[in-house]
Amino acid sequence: MQIKLARHMGYCFGVKRAIEMVERALEEGPYPIWTLGPIIHNPVVVDLLRDRGVKVATDPSQVSSGTLILRTHGTGADERATFSPSIGKIVDATCPFVQKAQNKARQLAEQGKSIIVFGDKNHPEVKAILSYAGKGALCIGNVSDLDAICLDDTTGELEVIAQTTSRRQDIDEILKALEEKGIQANLSNTVCTATELRQEAARELAQECDLVLVIGGKTSANTGQLVRIVEEFGVECYLVESEKDVWPQWFEGKHVVGVTAGASTPDWVIKEVVGKVEELEKTNLETKPEELHEGHEQEEIGTKESNEQVPETSPEAPQSDVVIESAEEMVEDKATAELYDETFKTLREGDIVEGKVMSVDENGALVDVGYKSEGIISPQELERRDEIGDYDISPGDEIMVYVLNVDSVDGSLRLSKRKADEELAWKDLEQAYREQSVIEAPVVQEVKGGLVVDVGVRAFVPASQVERGYVNDLSKYVGQTLRLKVLELDRSKNRVILSQRVVLEEDHERLCKETWDTIAEGQVRTGTVKGITDFGVFVDLGGVDGLLHISELSWGRVNHPSEVVKEGQEIQVKVLKVDKERGRISLGRKQVLPDPWDDVEAKYPVGIEIKGEVTRTAPFGAFVQIEPGVEGLVHISEISQQHIAKPEEVVNSGDQVMVRVLRTRPDERKISLSIKQADQTLLESHGEESPETLPKEAAEEVLQEAVEESVEPKEAPVEEEILEEPIAEAVEEAKEEVSEEEPVQEGDSDESCSADREVQQDSADVKEPEPDNKETGTVSQEE
Ligand code: F3S
Repeated sequence: MQIKLARHMGYCFGVKRAIEMVERALEEGPYPIWTLGPIIHNPVVVDLLRDRGVKVATDPSQVSSGTLILRTHGTGADERATFSPSIGKIVDATCPFVQKAQNKARQLAEQGKSIIVFGDKNHPEVKAILSYAGKGALCIGNVSDLDAICLDDTTGELEVIAQTTSRRQDIDEILKALEEKGIQANLSNTVCTATELRQEAARELAQECDLVLVIGGKTSANTGQLVRIVEEFGVECYLVESEKDVWPQWFEGKHVVGVTAGASTPDWVIKEVVGKVEELEKTNLETKPEELHEGHEQEEIGTKESNEQVPETSPEAPQSDVVIESAEEMVEDKATAELYDETFKTLREGDIVEGKVMSVDENGALVDVGYKSEGIISPQELERRDEIGDYDISPGDEIMVYVLNVDSVDGSLRLSKRKADEELAWKDLEQAYREQSVIEAPVVQEVKGGLVVDVGVRAFVPASQVERGYVNDLSKYVGQTLRLKVLELDRSKNRVILSQRVVLEEDHERLCKETWDTIAEGQVRTGTVKGITDFGVFVDLGGVDGLLHISELSWGRVNHPSEVVKEGQEIQVKVLKVDKERGRISLGRKQVLPDPWDDVEAKYPVGIEIKGEVTRTAPFGAFVQIEPGVEGLVHISEISQQHIAKPEEVVNSGDQVMVRVLRTRPDERKISLSIKQADQTLLESHGEESPETLPKEAAEEVLQEAVEESVEPKEAPVEEEILEEPIAEAVEEAKEEVSEEEPVQEGDSDESCSADREVQQDSADVKEPEPDNKETGTVSQEE
């Protein structure tokens, strides 16, 4: 048989505190020592105290001298009013949870609210709460009582105050029933967390055991609730006040026996009961099953009789099997004994343990730290010593706490969150320093010369240790979480110096190596724009920068890289060239963008008229961009109806013009255009200036600049092959496009001849357009 103990049982903090007060009164006097009613609802404890001289008064009038201790469950306002002035000392041992319920009742009564107190009307706690709730307050013991009371006079909202030991589900039922009656009810949260913990533990136990013993006083409300909870699971349950109430017959055929105890049950009573169960189990093992069975039939037993029989051992079963089974159970008993000791284990000063926050208010926090104990964290122990923020905790949070004091004056554990966090923080820092590991911490403040970060204690990051380079404005780091390494640690001086720079340097080195190991020509990579210059962009590919030349940024014309990208922007680039020896990487961006020449024939069929921008002029004509990356040539003969000596007489860079498409050659990335054949009124009708109307002087000026620019391109520190390409292309194009009317200046060549022929053919194409087609903006392929 296995014995399971509830996770939470026995003395709660309120009872522990009250017993401590009685002990102190016994030491200090004045005598005699009285308690008003039993100090707690446990007759075993009350009898022991009586033996030591503590008298129990059933009425205040019985006490006229000595010390009067007010019971844990509270004293009514009416009773207090009758205390004799000759009493030497009054000690209020009312549990703080009960006091809270009383205060709430008084406040609501003062506000004139309608109050319902939910609980046992004969229980002293409920009687006391009612005495503070005023004459109009009603009391109900269960949901059906609602039908028996008249709520017609209820004004406004109804306030519900529950006995501290109430079950949550019962309260919810009441609220639901009130809602169904159309009454808006507010619940004051007065249920004690110690009660909730013990009820939850009893629920768990009931699901794991086939018999549960609940130890506690028969008049104790919280013990009674534990019995009800276990019985709701259909599990056999016995309420015992001491080991004397335990009967061997209950355990016949039981495999797992649970033990729990009410909040007013001392540890030693629990130990005695558990000891008795273990002893009975041993006796049962030593007794033959038949004898055991016979013995039980003759015994008269306690409050319930078990219907189950001890399973009979098969007569064929070899004796050795029984022995082995007994030995296993002995081992099991040993495990139970260890568990038993663990349950009663007490905490020592200086221990750091995990706890669950049960409640938080202006008086601090109540924390369940297991071991059957709840402890208090005072508001001071919830504050940071270094003034870099307070702890933000809420009920349900799991936190680490430091045990400051085990046997404090009021019987509860005194805990500290601050000290626990500090101790753990120093431990972590020492380990991080020893192992040179990376820690993470938020920046809480910018101070002179650096940043303050919160690592559980205050730590400093000097300005020089924030980034790999100089940082002008440190304020932007406040609120950010940094990855840091410990540079210096001195607990005696409370000194912690950290560095983010070291971490970043290491990251950068690692990233650099990784990038150089994996980069290859033809790859498409994502990089971040790190710097922008006139000639191109530096892109961070991961610790290594590549150069994206201005000519590789876009298919269209780019005057300055900043027109296309911004610093910090993430872009995709193609790796054009890698020179590991010289540490250089050339990148292209337009290569990962759609090529506008791909569908140029479809977009710009011959004969179509479109708007474009003159990008540059040359002696033989003007280049017009019809979309970013698509530029065509308007031969000088196609610029004007009149004969002109140079294009600048009519057009200049930047002019918006209408052009007619004469011929497309996408393979060579060329389009022949005509200005004179296009309908310029289209532009004029939109209020734009026709190139024909441009001042001649201005056109000449721009022409001069354009010529100079084409002959002497701007110097830029880029690789030669990239720079030379556009110039060579332009010269080649010029040679091809030159006509008889605009002969090449510097000597004839075969190439120029062929270019002449081509232009002549182009001219022929446009000299005799089909009137119909011209009207419709199209020209046939033959033409
Ligand atoms: Fe108080 Fe709750 Fe115990 S009300 S006496 S802490 S069970």
